[in-house]
Amino acid sequence: MSPTRTIHLRLNRLHPAQQQVYDERRRFNVLCAGRRLGKSRFGIRLSADTALTGKPVGWYSPTYKMLAELWRETRATLAPVTTQKNEQEKRLELITGGVIEFWSLDAPETSRGRRYARVIVDEAAMVSDLAEVWDMVIRPTLIDYAGDAWFLSTPKGRDDFAAMYDLGQSDDHPDWASWRFASTANPYLPADELDALRSTMTSRAYEQEIEARFIDELTDALWSNALIDGHRVARPPEMRRVVVAIDPAVSASADSDETGIVAAGLGVDDHAYVLADASGRYSPLGWASKAIAQYDVLGADRVIGEVNNGGDLIRSNLRAVRATVPYKAVRASRGKATRAEPVAAMYEQGRVHHVGVFPELELQMTTWSPQDDKTSPDRVDALVWALSELMVKRTQRAAVSVQG
Ligand SMILES: Nc1ncnc2c1ncn2[C@@H]1O[C@H](COP(=O)(O)OP(=O)(O)OP(=O)(O)O)[C@@H](O)[C@H]1O
Ligand SMILES: [Mg+2]
Repeated sequence: MSPTRTIHLRLNRLHPAQQQVYDERRRFNVLCAGRRLGKSRFGIRLSADTALTGKPVGWYSPTYKMLAELWRETRATLAPVTTQKNEQEKRLELITGGVIEFWSLDAPETSRGRRYARVIVDEAAMVSDLAEVWDMVIRPTLIDYAGDAWFLSTPKGRDDFAAMYDLGQSDDHPDWASWRFASTANPYLPADELDALRSTMTSRAYEQEIEARFIDELTDALWSNALIDGHRVARPPEMRRVVVAIDPAVSASADSDETGIVAAGLGVDDHAYVLADASGRYSPLGWASKAIAQYDVLGADRVIGEVNNGGDLIRSNLRAVRATVPYKAVRASRGKATRAEPVAAMYEQGRVHHVGVFPELELQMTTWSPQDDKTSPDRVDALVWALSELMVKRTQRAAVSVQG
C-alpha cells in the first residue's frame, strides 16, 4: 500500500458574511453584494468544495476577460491538488477526479450538454439575457446530479438578476435563497481600497456598487438597460475612426466632480462601438494623462472636448501632458438634452454597441432624465460628445447632401 500523503491547500477561511450565506444555502442561491465583498473568492471556495468530493463544477463568467482572471486565480489556488489543466479549454482536473470547467457567456451555447453538480455564475447581473441563459443553457446541466447553483454579483438595476434575488426573498420559492451585503461586510478589505473606490464614484454609483442596492431606472431616461443590453457585443469589428471624448469636472460638489472620459469608434459596418470608460475624479493634469493613455491604448484618431467659457481648458491641459496629441474642440450650442436625444435615437436603431459592460456609465444613462438638465452626468456627457462626433454629424451631412 502506498503511504498516505497529506496535501495542504491554502483556501481562505470564509468571512462572516460568506459563512452566513454558506450556512443558509438552498438549491439556488443569489448573493447580491458590493464590489470587493469577496464574491469570487467565495465562488472559488464553493467550486473547490464540490470538485474535491470528485464531482464536476461549471463556472460561468459574463465575458472572456473576466473569465481569464478567474481562471488564473483558481488555477493557482488549486495547483497542489490539480492533476491536469487545459489552458485552451479552461478545464482543471483534481486528484479526486473532480473537474472544474470555465465558460464565458460571450458564447453561452458552448457549454450545452455538460453535467454539473454545482454551477457558479460570477457577476451574473452583467450577463445579458440572464434568465434565458439560465433556463436554456445552465439549468439543464444540473439535472443529472440534482446540482445547486450560485449567482454572485454586484447589482445592475432591476434586471433578471434582481428578479432572481426576489425569488430568494419570497416564501413561495423554497428552492431559492438570496442575500444582500455591502462591500464593507468584507473584514479583509483595506479601508484605503474602499476609499479609493468611493473617490471615483457619484452617490448613485456608490449606492449600487458599494451598498449593493438595486437602483431603479428612470422611466423618462433616454436609455434603458434593455436597450443597451440588446446590442451589446463582446468584440468590436475593425474601426474606421476612434475618438476619446472628455467632459472635465467643473463644479466641486460631491456629485458632479467626475471627469467623463469615454472612447468610442466607428466600425467598418458604420455602427458605433463604445470602447472604454475611463471616467473618474482626477486633477486637471490627471484627466489629461488618462485621456492620452486611452488615446494611445486604442490607437485613437483624436481627443475631443468642449470649449468652455473660460477658454480652451482641455487643449491647454492636453498640451501640458503631450504637445502633439491631435485635439478638436467642440462647441455646445444646444442644451444637454437636445444633444443627447439623437444619440439615444441611434441606440434605438441598434446602431450603437457597448463592447463589454460599463456599469457606472450605464447607471448614469438609465438614471438621468433629460428633464433634469441641472444634474451633470459626466460620463453621459462624454459619451454623447464621442458618439455625436462619430455619427450624428455624418447623418446630418448625409441628409444635407441628399437634399442638395
Ligand atoms: N474569506 C476571505 N479571507 C480573506 N480574504 C478574503 C476573503 N474573501 C475575500 N477576500 C479578499 O477580499 C478581496 C476581494 O475578494 P474578491 O475578489 O473575491 O471580491 P469580489 O467581490 O469578487 O470583488 P469584485 O467586485 O472586484 O469582483 C480579495 O483581496 C480577497 O483575497
Ligand atoms: Mg469578483
